[in-house]
Amino acid sequence: EKDLKSKIIEINTEAAKYYHYLLRSDRGKTAYHYLKGRELSDETIVKFGLGYSDKYSNNLYQYLRSKGYNDTELKETGLFTFDEVRGVNDKFWNRVMFPIMDANNRVIAFGGRVMGDGKPKYLNSPETKVFDKSRNLYGLNVARSARKDYMLICEGYMDVISLHQAGFNNAVAALGTAFTSRHASLIKRYAKEAVLTFDSDEAGIKAALRAIPYLRESGLAIKVLNMKPYKDPDEFIKNMGREAYEERIKTATNFFIFQVDNERKNYDLNDPQEKTAFQNKVAEMLLVFKDELERENYIDSVCRTFNISKDGLSRLVKKKALNYV
Ligand code: GTP
Ligand code: MN
Ligand code: MN
Ligand code: MN
Ligand code: MN
Repeated sequence: EKDLKSKIIEINTEAAKYYHYLLRSDRGKTAYHYLKGRELSDETIVKFGLGYSDKYSNNLYQYLRSKGYNDTELKETGLFTFDEVRGVNDKFWNRVMFPIMDANNRVIAFGGRVMGDGKPKYLNSPETKVFDKSRNLYGLNVARSARKDYMLICEGYMDVISLHQAGFNNAVAALGTAFTSRHASLIKRYAKEAVLTFDSDEAGIKAALRAIPYLRESGLAIKVLNMKPYKDPDEFIKNMGREAYEERIKTATNFFIFQVDNERKNYDLNDPQEKTAFQNKVAEMLLVFKDELERENYIDSVCRTFNISKDGLSRLVKKKALNYV
């Protein structure tokens, strides 16, 4: 078992080298230009070991067989499809390749992006004996050595890479999978605060809202960045530059204010009934803070931000707290 795991990692490492070599060869021209079009420098391409999986059906397989790996080992990597009729084929075709490293820099899986609009946009390695999506974060191998108090949590490969290229070397992403409590504990090992920098669309807001309870549970402080009017950190940085992003970090929203702000969208605050319902909802939300002083501080902050009467909300919270225990 342990031997098999290190064998999978060894094969993945060979595959990463192969993909990277292809990217730099004539066959990888289109992919290289795709990455250049996305404004990645050669230094970044090397730093993240980006590559290209070419158009032919089983080149990687043939290459790795020629290096002496057998089918049993190769099957375990998830990089191939074994079919009785069609034989063995590479899983990734004509995609830009992103090797996924664990915190100790070992290649545990790959993501591959189509160049253009094909579907699926991203294809990832299946889970294997060395790849558990819920236990790994893309970019953590670099972000952990940044030794900053906070980590930037984003959605995608390109977000992580763009942020690193712009000098934010503490960015990580949970790759196309739900953010779990394991991701949160992983972050807690290296940082005190999580700064969420998800996509600004509805899906990104939902993902942030779902991640918050896990991050809270692990004891991290949490702030939320708004990428509007851009779609995600990658596009924000490209259009606005690193100083503007730095500024967003400085003016980041406290997670609770973000939650309340999101809740507010469900109410018409011009209607007294709905306004009261909203205030009741906020009072309930405030019960997550068990410490009295902390709760008061949040009441303060919420009332200022959303223009709510402090006396009224305090009373409401006290009443709810009594019923709550
Ligand atoms: P770009 O278009 O290259 O900038 O990618 P993006 O990261 O902005 O894409 P998006 O916001 O749509 O998705 C965020 C992340 O979710 C991606 O980086 C992937 O990890 C994952 N993801 C997106 N689309 C797919 C998909 O079709 N399949 C899988 N498995 N994951 C996906
Ligand atoms: Mn998508
Ligand atoms: Mn998205
Ligand atoms: Mn993007
Ligand atoms: Mn995106």
